[in-house]
Amino acid sequence: MKRLTVPRIRQRKGGEPLVMLTAYTVRMAQLLDPHCDMLLVGDSLAQVIYGLPHTVGVTMEMMALHGAAVVRGSYHAAVIVDMPFGSYEGSPQQAFDNAARLLKETGAAAVKVEGGKVLAPTIEFLTQRGIPVMGHVGLTPQAVNILGGYGVRGKSDAEARSIVEDAVAVAQAGAFSIVIEGVLESIAIEITEKVACPTIGIGASAQCDGQVLVTDDMLGMFERVPKFVKRYQDMAGVVSGAVQDYADEVRARSFPTKDQIYAG
Ligand code: KIV
Ligand code: NA
Repeated sequence: MKRLTVPRIRQRKGGEPLVMLTAYTVRMAQLLDPHCDMLLVGDSLAQVIYGLPHTVGVTMEMMALHGAAVVRGSYHAAVIVDMPFGSYEGSPQQAFDNAARLLKETGAAAVKVEGGKVLAPTIEFLTQRGIPVMGHVGLTPQAVNILGGYGVRGKSDAEARSIVEDAVAVAQAGAFSIVIEGVLESIAIEITEKVACPTIGIGASAQCDGQVLVTDDMLGMFERVPKFVKRYQDMAGVVSGAVQDYADEVRARSFPTKDQIYAG
């Protein structure tokens, strides 16, 4: 099966919904790949893999290594790598240098950046120089120190207007798709109607052109998850149960049995 390309993702606007999940490791990428159109190497690996308090601490090295692992574990989905905080906001040139490094070192198809109007010149600079960019508006977790938390965005009319303007600016700058996170549904619907590229919702609306979730959240690996996460499995329970059985058997000397040893 040939890997989905950025132009084919763009063509899916208003069509069959795009399926996206996060992946950080090779085995998970292999398991998700047959079911997904896009795999996002999200900087949410801060919390999920590294136990960091937020995504501000993520480095280029982390994104490059996990991005390469996900590309190695996938054959069908387009892989998109998050640009870490501090690697693209300074200038279009800084963004280009770091985005080019991520594409070279991972083999991914595109990068994702958080932000709106202010980032439009950067998105245009990258797309005109061969680097496809996915946007991310609304609740932008890298801005946690400005926002003060992860509450839903766009509750005031002024904020709602500003988020719609952000998305329109990002789309006009050439983004091939835009993640809309943590906004009132009416905002997500308005953006989806206004922009020419597919919107990918998370805590947004079923009317977006696709959806994304943090895989570990939807698999039930975390204790506390946002309202917008649906748990499709209780992986934490599955793991705890298996480890409890193993621990019990080791303590009872009932593992290993003759099936797991080399009798000599
Ligand atoms: O880092 C991430 O996982 C993301 C998605 C939640 C969109 O940016
Ligand atoms: Na992210």
